[in-house]
Amino acid sequence: MPNRRITVIPGDGIGPSIIESAIRILQKVGCQFDYDYADAGLVAMEKHGELLPKQTLDLIEQNKVTLKGPLTTPVGGGFTSINVSLRKKFNLYANVRPVISFKGTKSRYENIDIITVRENTEGMYSGAGQRRSDDNNSAEATSIITREGAERIVLFAFELARNEGRKKVTIVHKANILKSTSGLFLEVARQVAARFPDIQSEEMIVDAACMNLVMYPERFDVIVTTNLFGDILSDLCAGLVGGLGMAPGANIGSGAAIFEAVHGSAPDIAGKNIANPTSVILASVQMLEYLGMQSEAERILNAVRTTIEAGETVTRDLGGSASTSEFTDAVIARL
Ligand SMILES: NC(=O)c1ccc[n+]([C@@H]2O[C@H](COP(=O)([O-])OP(=O)(O)OC[C@H]3O[C@@H](n4cnc5c(N)ncnc54)[C@H](O)[C@@H]3O)[C@@H](O)[C@H]2O)c1
Repeated sequence: MPNRRITVIPGDGIGPSIIESAIRILQKVGCQFDYDYADAGLVAMEKHGELLPKQTLDLIEQNKVTLKGPLTTPVGGGFTSINVSLRKKFNLYANVRPVISFKGTKSRYENIDIITVRENTEGMYSGAGQRRSDDNNSAEATSIITREGAERIVLFAFELARNEGRKKVTIVHKANILKSTSGLFLEVARQVAARFPDIQSEEMIVDAACMNLVMYPERFDVIVTTNLFGDILSDLCAGLVGGLGMAPGANIGSGAAIFEAVHGSAPDIAGKNIANPTSVILASVQMLEYLGMQSEAERILNAVRTTIEAGETVTRDLGGSASTSEFTDAVIARL
């Protein structure tokens, strides 16, 4: 059987160095992949004159599975976010963002294990209908929630909870104020939840969810919510376990999946070999789980965990002084 082909997008800023870390680790653990490298973001703009070249889109479609570094969307100039474009183009409707506490990280809590399942294509974050009035004194945007979109994301969250042996799904909304959009989401979520009697379902208004996540994060298990709330809550969750350097995300649709770090291209530390590659390494763990390669996924997760717990070779954001490559070497040594 031929090796599985994976599309790899190194991306901008710290992207190439953290992606290199993840690939070295995948190779060490014996994954039989062939990698097709593709450009996107600023680097693609410089080389090919566009942010998302056709050959990159073709490779994402062909190989179905992509490991991606962060991309810089130029500010101004009317550019649409490349990530939003990718999610829409490949209908990657589920954004799965797990956060786990590792001993040895600088964080306020221990024992956090939360998965945020964020709807990835609809709602306010999709940026639909954005417009300024001619006199520049008012602005508008359109937020659309569909029954189909709400149903498939809530179903995804409950199925994930069941498959991973989790106990509870918290449905986060703002239906008391956003009665049409959030109201429809909540109505559909209740209908889906009723089909999963084995999973506890809980409803929470988004502002209360923020407070409860900070005060009692251990009470959360799986969260399902709409696009903008999920964007904000998942960064809050990353902050509970030591910051953006620790937070991976999978964008999953019926025909393709893209695995990435939650953070951006970090231009302030790019080229210095000091970025923490953990987020993208954990994204590669999500990728292996998606491909059914549980044992390789667990080996990498354990090596990352024990390296961070040991504390001798961690990056600056975790309070250490190791470079990106030294941290990667330490994980590889544990494998
Ligand atoms: N998924 C993506 O591709 C993605 C996501 C978010 C932002 N972006 C893009 O990234 C660019 C920069 O955005 P930003 O500065 O707002 O956010 P950012 O996530 O790049 O950086 C925020 C802060 O976190 C730090 N940081 C981020 N990742 C880190 C890591 N792995 N190790 C250590 N420190 C880390 C940075 O140094 C910075 O101080 C923008 O162009 C934005 O559009 C891309």
